[in-house]
Amino acid sequence: MTATPALPSGASNNARPVTVPDFLAAKAQGKRLAVLTAYDYTMARLLDAAGVDAVLVGDSVGMVVQGGTHCLAVTLEEMIYHTRLAARGVRRALLISDMPFMSFQVSAQQALENAGRLVKEGSAQAVKLEGGVRTAPAIEAVVGADIPVMGHIGLTPQSVHRLGGFRVQRDEAELMEDAQAVEQAGAFALVLECVPAELARKITSLMRIPTIGIGAGAGCDGQVLVTHDILGLFDELRPKFVKRYADVGQAIARAVAGYCQDVRAGTFPAAEHEFR
Ligand code: KIV
Repeated sequence: MTATPALPSGASNNARPVTVPDFLAAKAQGKRLAVLTAYDYTMARLLDAAGVDAVLVGDSVGMVVQGGTHCLAVTLEEMIYHTRLAARGVRRALLISDMPFMSFQVSAQQALENAGRLVKEGSAQAVKLEGGVRTAPAIEAVVGADIPVMGHIGLTPQSVHRLGGFRVQRDEAELMEDAQAVEQAGAFALVLECVPAELARKITSLMRIPTIGIGAGAGCDGQVLVTHDILGLFDELRPKFVKRYADVGQAIARAVAGYCQDVRAGTFPAAEHEFR
């Protein structure tokens, strides 16, 4: 195995890396941004080679990798670990790491220290923090140390118990206030999760930073989805806003069944798989 493996066909090693200023420029130019999640080297490398603008190491790792019913148990150490794995696969996309539950809520100082760990130990290029008005001081502290921050409002999965489940968020006044607080605190982008499309469009039109929607309609400046959802790797939740682009889960099931059958029938390994 070589130290720097070749990229899949179609990928370019030479493409200029996507930066935080590129996100802001995309908004000004009306270019839509495509973001997906990854938690390891292999997936990050595939997404990067296929041309996503950013790879998000989301705390959704707690559900689609760790098998939890929510993401509250994900630790900072786990996020650092997964970010470091993903970083090895990313050459062009912006690498953003999620700050997990209770890694930034205690104080702005705590947020700054833990964001610093995601950058220093995980190689993140930016971090994402959930929450609007009440998270603004933490965002300001992190941005003050030159660590770019992506905000996240609407359905914030770390608030699942307060919200009473994963529900569409419709309080226009609260969402407007949260969006403004995040922008004023210095964030470079804002995730809008599960917000009615018309409201998301309105928020987007009022902001200087790009909005990245998930379940927030086509009026956002970009979109983010959980990769396991679009590939059909995670079936326990099927949110309305997910579009499935492949059924990799089925493909894996077929491949594994074929392998088991061959082993049991003695048809694998064949002569070409043996050493002479
Ligand atoms: O954790 C995550 O993957 C996320 C995105 C889906 C926005 O927060």
